[in-house]
Amino acid sequence: MPSLIIDGREIAADSGEKILWAALRSGIYIPHLCATEGAELPFGGCRLCLVEVEVGGRREMTTACSEPVREKMKIYAHTEKIARMRRMAFELIMSDHHIDCKNCAKRKNCGLIRTASAMNMPLQPKTLRSLARDLPVDNSHPLFAYDPRKCVKCGKCVLLCQGLGKSFLDFAHRGFEMTVTTFDHLPLSSIACESCLDCVKVCPTGALYLKDTSKNVIPAPYQSTGLTSAGRPKGGGVSEASEHSQKLLTSPDPGVGGSLKEEGGSGDG
Ligand code: SF4
Ligand code: SF4
Ligand code: FES
Repeated sequence: MPSLIIDGREIAADSGEKILWAALRSGIYIPHLCATEGAELPFGGCRLCLVEVEVGGRREMTTACSEPVREKMKIYAHTEKIARMRRMAFELIMSDHHIDCKNCAKRKNCGLIRTASAMNMPLQPKTLRSLARDLPVDNSHPLFAYDPRKCVKCGKCVLLCQGLGKSFLDFAHRGFEMTVTTFDHLPLSSIACESCLDCVKVCPTGALYLKDTSKNVIPAPYQSTGLTSAGRPKGGGVSEASEHSQKLLTSPDPGVGGSLKEEGGSGDG
C-alpha cells in the first residue's frame, strides 16, 4: 500500500488511487465539485482540487482528482498560491450561476454552499461580474426538472448516465456556451429516460432536482466526506469549516438569512 505526504502528514493510499480520494479518506479536505470516485478518466473541469506536487525539487500544479498516488510523493494542498487559484476557480464557476438559494430545491444539500463554506468564501463572486445566462428550465418530466442556469458543468450526470449504458444526457457546445442537454435538445419528457433519478442524486447543485422536494435527495459525494479546515483533522475529524457549513445547512433558511446572505451569497434570493 503506497503512502504519500500531504502538507507534512503521511497518509496511506490504495494502489493507483487518485490523490483526492486518499486525502478525503484521511480527513484532509480538498475542495472538489466535478470528481467522481472510481471514474477512469476524471472530468477535471472545476479546478477546485488543485494541489502542488513536488517533482525533482520543484513544485508542479496538478488536479488531485486526476493524479494517481505515487509512493512517498509530496503534496502541498493548502498553500497561499493554491488557495488563490481555487478562489479564482470558484468565482469563475459562480459567475455563471443563477444564485437563487431561497427558491432552490437543493438548498439544504448544495455542493456549492458547502464548498463556499469550506473555502470561507461568499457564493457571489467579488471580483467577477455575473455572466449567468437566462436559459429556460425544462419542467416537462413528471418527476424531475433541469435548470441549466444552475448547472456548473461538472459532468457528473453525463458520466453517470453514460456509465449506465445510456446516453440521454450529454454536453453540447464549447467554452462559455457549453451546456448539458438531451440528445437533439429534446425535452426530458420526450427522451427514453428510465427515471432512475440517479442524475438528480449526483448533481451537486439545483440544476437537476426532484419536483417533489419532500423527497430528500442528498448529492452522493457529500454523504460521507468529512470536511476539515486547513486539511488537517480536528478532534473527531469535523472541522470548523464543516461545523460552519452544517450550521448554515441546518438553519431554517440556509444561504438566505444567514452568513452567506451577508457575504452576498443569496444572490437575488
Ligand atoms: S448555490 Fe446551491 S442552493 Fe443556491 S441556488 Fe445555487 S444550487 Fe441552489
Ligand atoms: S446538471 Fe448537475 S450534475 Fe449535470 S453537469 Fe450540471 S451541475 Fe453537474
Ligand atoms: S474535482 Fe478535480 S477538477 Fe474538479
